[in-house]
Amino acid sequence: MQLTSRLSVSLIVGVAAVSMAFAFYQTRAQSQGMQRDLEQQALTLGDSLARAVEPLLAAGSFDQLQKLVELFKDRETVAGVAAYNASGIPLVATEGLFALLGGTPNSVVQALRNGWAKAEFITTGAGAQLHVAAVPLRSGAAIIGALAIVHDTAYIDTRTAALWRRAILGVIVQTLVIVGITLLAVRFTVGRPLGHMTQWLRELRTHGASAPLTAGGDFEPLAREVKQIATSLSAARAAAQEEARLRHTAEATWTTERLRIFVEGRLGGTRLFAISNREPYEHRHHAGGIESVMPASGLVTALEPILRACDGTWIAQGTGDADRDTVDAGDHVRVPPDHPQYTLRRVWLTEEEERGFYYGFANEGIWPLCHIAHTRPVFRAEDWRYYRDVNRKFAHALLHEIATEAYPVVLVQDYHFALLPAMIKLERPDARVAIFWHIPWPNPEAFGICPWQRELLDGLLGADLIGFHIQAHCNNFLDSVDRGLESRIERERFAVNRAGHLTLVRPFPISVAPEQTDAVARMDELPHIERSSLLAALGVRATFMGVGVDRIDYTKGIPERFRGIEEFLENWPVYRGQLTFVQIGSPSRTEIARYHDLIHEVESEADRINRRFQTSEWKPIVLLKRQHSHREILPYYRAADFCLVTSLHDGMNLVAKEFVAARDDEHGVLILSRFTGACHELTDALLINPYDTAEIAESIRRALEMPPRERLERMRRMRTVVRERNIYRWAGNLIGELCAVRTEADAPPLLVTDEPSAGRTLLDRSEKPLLPWVGGGTG
Ligand code: G6P
Repeated sequence: MQLTSRLSVSLIVGVAAVSMAFAFYQTRAQSQGMQRDLEQQALTLGDSLARAVEPLLAAGSFDQLQKLVELFKDRETVAGVAAYNASGIPLVATEGLFALLGGTPNSVVQALRNGWAKAEFITTGAGAQLHVAAVPLRSGAAIIGALAIVHDTAYIDTRTAALWRRAILGVIVQTLVIVGITLLAVRFTVGRPLGHMTQWLRELRTHGASAPLTAGGDFEPLAREVKQIATSLSAARAAAQEEARLRHTAEATWTTERLRIFVEGRLGGTRLFAISNREPYEHRHHAGGIESVMPASGLVTALEPILRACDGTWIAQGTGDADRDTVDAGDHVRVPPDHPQYTLRRVWLTEEEERGFYYGFANEGIWPLCHIAHTRPVFRAEDWRYYRDVNRKFAHALLHEIATEAYPVVLVQDYHFALLPAMIKLERPDARVAIFWHIPWPNPEAFGICPWQRELLDGLLGADLIGFHIQAHCNNFLDSVDRGLESRIERERFAVNRAGHLTLVRPFPISVAPEQTDAVARMDELPHIERSSLLAALGVRATFMGVGVDRIDYTKGIPERFRGIEEFLENWPVYRGQLTFVQIGSPSRTEIARYHDLIHEVESEADRINRRFQTSEWKPIVLLKRQHSHREILPYYRAADFCLVTSLHDGMNLVAKEFVAARDDEHGVLILSRFTGACHELTDALLINPYDTAEIAESIRRALEMPPRERLERMRRMRTVVRERNIYRWAGNLIGELCAVRTEADAPPLLVTDEPSAGRTLLDRSEKPLLPWVGGGTG
């Protein structure tokens, strides 16, 4: 309001001043124009009249002259005409004119003296406003007198006054119209979006929720920024409230804030460093510039909230085509891009390195080795060499980052970096190093087929702490060490002592950050979308909906899942036309033939089953084959009757936990493979053997026909598990356990070698390798 009135006053003053100046200029110009016209007219009249007067004056015909000048009596604007002799003495004039003039005008004197016409405006002694145009009268070359044409100029003043009146009226109307239009325009283009934003913020403040905020046009960037700040404030407020609640109820639930305080306390000023192959944000070029994308990865889902909470440094491979354009000279970039909270340090790999290390050894070797999904691992010596070199490259990057940190805490992630713990420890025995293995660890017989099993175990045992999702993986690991290496296994405390270095082996079931999904929903970025609308957008009509979300990976059992759905429709035909299963599948590792072929298999299974049952407006399976963001997936989680997780083998499976976290309505049924880590915690899911399609079919039926009360109670219990055993607890336990470890920083090098390491480091590229496998001895 205040803004509008201030704007109106300034507009009125501004517009009025400009219009007034313009009106003044215009009116003055018109008045001057009238004077010029009058002068022109008078001189023309004087010239033509002089031709008639000159012979009469030369002949001394004063009577004639008097008659002539009397012709100008009672004219509208002409006051009269007067004739003077060569000395300026008045001779004849229209009646009353000499009295009006009150003397010989200066213009007459000038005309007689100079011999050319002269005009002037005068005000007589009696106050009359006149215009006198004096023209010399000649006889031959001699000037014999002058003729004065006198106009009454009062009409110019009258007309000028009328012009002024009109101009002022114009100024007023113009000012009102311009100010009015401007205020209206401001109100619609500025006031509305601002008002909308204010209302949105007020609702957010008072109710903690608000409708989606859109401002449109030039205000969209501002709206985005407002939304961003509001989201952060809202999350901070929610965290503070949650903290207060937890303190009040003395609950031990981990939150982002609690983790931050905990880590701060444990690290005592040291920063946290995480290393993984997959980066949390990939920058990609697209038509409008550069966009950042979060890759589909359980590891990223889990680790991201921790780095945010602790402002650490995450070292990962730069894989986006715009990644190099977004880092600084030290290959760092602050992320998340919209709201930076921690540092991402990118490491660059060549194509050959990526092929050998990532596609080759990690994903054609270790991945199928550790997942018992009946895809045979492929081990190539060349891949192994790349694996070792890339581990070394990442070790260099990390050592550079921690160069100035004393007793740094390092969290190495996953099967891509089995050799890294030993490499780091050799250089920095003071570092506290943990590695978390995000995938299963197989039994010793299965693991034993790897030609480099000893090297992998040795690399891992460089860590102070090795984490797996579940106890069974820890047991398998200890058994593999038992079989593969000379060491002392301390089973009572789950530790391995190898040449004096102790490695603890512990289960840390990974999880999700429940409040993250809640926060997204709370901000109502995602208004609840009805199931029917979601399906309609996919071109189908159905009463029930199931959902599956996976990378397209042979360990996820996607074809088995589709066959389970087929069997369900065979066994319970009443559900034909009723149930649609939406499979969100993100293509993954497609350079590997097995993955490439799998995409084809998944597509053709979906096609085959659809062709068998589909009608004009319904089909049983909708395959959405592209990477979807969490935000895109959330509406499907929230609208589904059930979520189907059929992994043939899975370390944990975070989709199961994400689904539960998304169900704040406490509805929905989780159907979960017995071969996932998650099934040990989510015991209220319907547990299935994914190889048994009849069991999948039966559990779909159970999910759809489950009494609402049972469904609610199961979901409620699972939500309690996910809320309490969340990702902050995972990180807190892992970091807490790691910080409690006593490092051998002062002790002699702890690395297990088959050769003495005296004074040399693993990172030396000297002729004789420190460890046989580092130099490629076994390769
Ligand atoms: C699993 C692995 C992660 C990996 C993710 C995605 O969750 O444990 O390390 O990042 O799959 O696979 P990708 O090969 O695309 O990184």
